[in-house]
Amino acid sequence: MKILGIETSCDETAASIVEISPDSTHTILISQSVATSLSLHAKTGGIIPEIAARSQIQSIIPVIYIALYDADIPWDQNNPPAIDAIAVTYGPGLIGSLLVGVETAKSLSYLWNKPLIPVNHLFGHVYANFVRENSKVKMQDVKLPEFPAIALIVSGGHTDLLFMKSHSDIIWLGGTRDDAAGEAFDKIGRLLDLPYPAGPMIEKLAEEGDSNAYHFPRPLMYDGVFDFSFSGLKTAVLREVQNLDLPQGKKQLVKNICRGVQDAIIDVLVKKTLTAAEKLGAKSILLGGGVAANATLTETLKLSATNHKLSAEIFVPQKSLCTDNAAMIATAGFFQMKHVAWNELTANPQLYFDETI
Ligand code: KG4
Ligand code: ZN
Repeated sequence: MKILGIETSCDETAASIVEISPDSTHTILISQSVATSLSLHAKTGGIIPEIAARSQIQSIIPVIYIALYDADIPWDQNNPPAIDAIAVTYGPGLIGSLLVGVETAKSLSYLWNKPLIPVNHLFGHVYANFVRENSKVKMQDVKLPEFPAIALIVSGGHTDLLFMKSHSDIIWLGGTRDDAAGEAFDKIGRLLDLPYPAGPMIEKLAEEGDSNAYHFPRPLMYDGVFDFSFSGLKTAVLREVQNLDLPQGKKQLVKNICRGVQDAIIDVLVKKTLTAAEKLGAKSILLGGGVAANATLTETLKLSATNHKLSAEIFVPQKSLCTDNAAMIATAGFFQMKHVAWNELTANPQLYFDETI
């Protein structure tokens, strides 16, 4: 069984073909095609929704075409491609961007007579942990997450903790009350004059930063709830940089701030995730979302789990599957499998968990 995934919730336009493994426990990545309008937003330090959507309208068909071509799936006007379903992100995200993917998927579903599966983008990030490369590893040796599991979603717009008893029994534990972890990296990056999105650059600069130079606040870290709050961190950094002439001639200072910021964000994420895993007896911890591409976060999480004698196995998708992609959408589509008629689907920019769990 092969699924075409389509993802257009933010600035990326992505399509992918995944094949369901013979034992139906995971998907095998067959092809991935991604176009991004990121360079068009570089000057503004954030995504301009109108520009993102305009660029997605241009790239959506070529991106789908390439995903099918790379998967050796022929199609023409008379013969629909040999795929079994179309999975598409219908929220949350930017309305103009979502509409491009959703309306294209609806048209193709009607035209090709293929089942249509709407996918919550946030579940997509979790299900990136169930995608595997087409490697020589024997099926029985493929290591996969076991339930119960804790999932930490850390993206540009969301920070959420989920408790997964199974694929169909998922409980939302908590989320951010203000800025998401990725948003905090990006907003602080703007204060430090770093290019958007700032997460990768902050991680790089933090490598040479002094961990003792700054100790930024770690809100809600010890309050026993699974909610997060990162806006205070941004304010604390703002207070620091207001009196400094950054970044000219102050390179080490910027590195120190980056280190302080990254340490604070990671401390909170690790503490909450491990507390949830311990309390709920998780056998696996799943990371997902762009911030999961941060190697220091994953290393710290693994190290702290070992120090706490936690036996839960930690899963982190490969880098290209942490940030927005369509393989994760196709995979979530397979596991969540909720078909809808093409004319019943609408994009929902505000979609959260209550509607899908
Ligand atoms: O999941 P994603 O690609 O898009 C959303 O769904 O939002 O996440 C993008 C976010 C951005 O905020 C970016 O700064 C952050 O992921 N990010 C990182 C790293 N790579 C991307 N944050 C910290 N360290 C990184 N290496
Ligand atoms: Zn995302």
